[in-house]
Amino acid sequence: MTTTQAPPTGQSPQEEQSRTGQTPLKGQTPRFDGDVDPERVPEEYRLARAFVPKARYLSQEFLDLELEKLFKRSWLMACRVEELHGVGSFVEYEIGSHSILVVREAKNSIRAYFNACRHRGTRLTRGRGRVGSIICPFHGWRWNLDGSIRLVLDREEFVERSDDDLGLVSVQVGVWGGFVFINMDPHAMPLLDYLDPIVRIFEPFQLENMRIRWTKEVVLECNWKTALDGFLEAYHVAGTHPQLHRLDKGNTNILSLKEMENRRWAPTTTYERHAHYSSIGEKNPDGVKDPTDRLTEGLQDERLSVGLSVQYIFDDMRGLENDRSWRAAEQLKTADVPDGVPAGRYFLELYKQLCISEGYEWNDITPEQWGEAGTAWNVFPNTIVLPNQGSALVYRARPYLNDPNKCTFEVFALDQIPIADYDKKHEVNPEFYEDYREADLGVVFSQDLMNAKEVTVGMHSPSYDGHRLSEHQEMTIYNMHRVADRYLWTD
Ligand code: FES
Ligand SMILES: [Fe+2]
Repeated sequence: MTTTQAPPTGQSPQEEQSRTGQTPLKGQTPRFDGDVDPERVPEEYRLARAFVPKARYLSQEFLDLELEKLFKRSWLMACRVEELHGVGSFVEYEIGSHSILVVREAKNSIRAYFNACRHRGTRLTRGRGRVGSIICPFHGWRWNLDGSIRLVLDREEFVERSDDDLGLVSVQVGVWGGFVFINMDPHAMPLLDYLDPIVRIFEPFQLENMRIRWTKEVVLECNWKTALDGFLEAYHVAGTHPQLHRLDKGNTNILSLKEMENRRWAPTTTYERHAHYSSIGEKNPDGVKDPTDRLTEGLQDERLSVGLSVQYIFDDMRGLENDRSWRAAEQLKTADVPDGVPAGRYFLELYKQLCISEGYEWNDITPEQWGEAGTAWNVFPNTIVLPNQGSALVYRARPYLNDPNKCTFEVFALDQIPIADYDKKHEVNPEFYEDYREADLGVVFSQDLMNAKEVTVGMHSPSYDGHRLSEHQEMTIYNMHRVADRYLWTD
């Protein structure tokens, strides 16, 4: 059974299907029109009902295929717009063995190029910085920021070639919500079509008015998908983060059987390409998210339940909430909440007043919009976005060169900025740690990242054949594989 509604007139079933998504309870693993016939997928990689074979994580051949067919043809989040402040600013985006140069070519134009010299292939630049022109470090050939060739030393000695032939090879660029995406496929569909229905559903959260408050990158000993899987469901919260159920008691012991039974569900909804889960909501099959309904349970005083959960997230994860929501939560704890007004709604009112008085734009988000937004989205293939009012958390995982058992994982904490700062330069100082335990990521992230290694060790056991997923709460994971098959097994 699914909750998919009948399409309204004027839209093809396929268009409507991609807009509505599917939230199955049990008995159906979502499929969409255009999915690859499972018979075309080699048996060791073939998905079965709510089952993902382990070879999709561990096999070298599979990663090579992903690098060749998936990452070269999908839209990938390369950086944020604020990382390219000023003409000539650049960021190198690497994924596996691919390197792409993303450059602000002009005030209102961002371009991307394969990061390889047209002379003998040298990688043109590394990391990030700002340049007047792009200069190869080997023999000094130069290009303008628009990719056109500017200088070939002793050009008369070379076979005559057109300037076009010597220009940098472009990669497609798209911008949405303050993110810069690239696509190595010149025939790729437009970014905004690819993101459907995310663009519509995220609109009230105004991600474009946010900036990176901090970002950290760590190296993990797991497949890039294992790193993401741990953030694509909230089914693990009771087992991995028991403290989130016990903020009033402040301990991290495992939950009792009764507490486990009473935990909340976090149903997943899958769309044609992307998927989300919704962890905030009563134990209901539709997963409606309501900002008044926070994680803590058992507290008699609703004000404390809401206030403590907001403050715990900001204190521990330093993201998803911000200093303004923390202060509004503090006010809430002792506020005179009018009878009949849920504490969560009153919290939003306090937060709104605080934001407006301090010069921030405020957009009222309706309960329906919160419900559709859910908690965390897989922006296919390798990015996760958790939207919240005034803040967002973003995760990205990328294969580490061509090693299936290693990846880089990044966290971006985004915060809205005051209206007066919209056009100002925003400093971004990315941090990198070989070992996540040195990255000071807080308790919640540390609990998650510890799982990634243990999952990988266990997956290598000859006793283990693949993931057995909940059809209700873990279909975000299945969905990523289902969509990947469209890229991996087609020309
Ligand atoms: S390899 Fe780049 S100029 Fe020679
Ligand atoms: Fe977690």
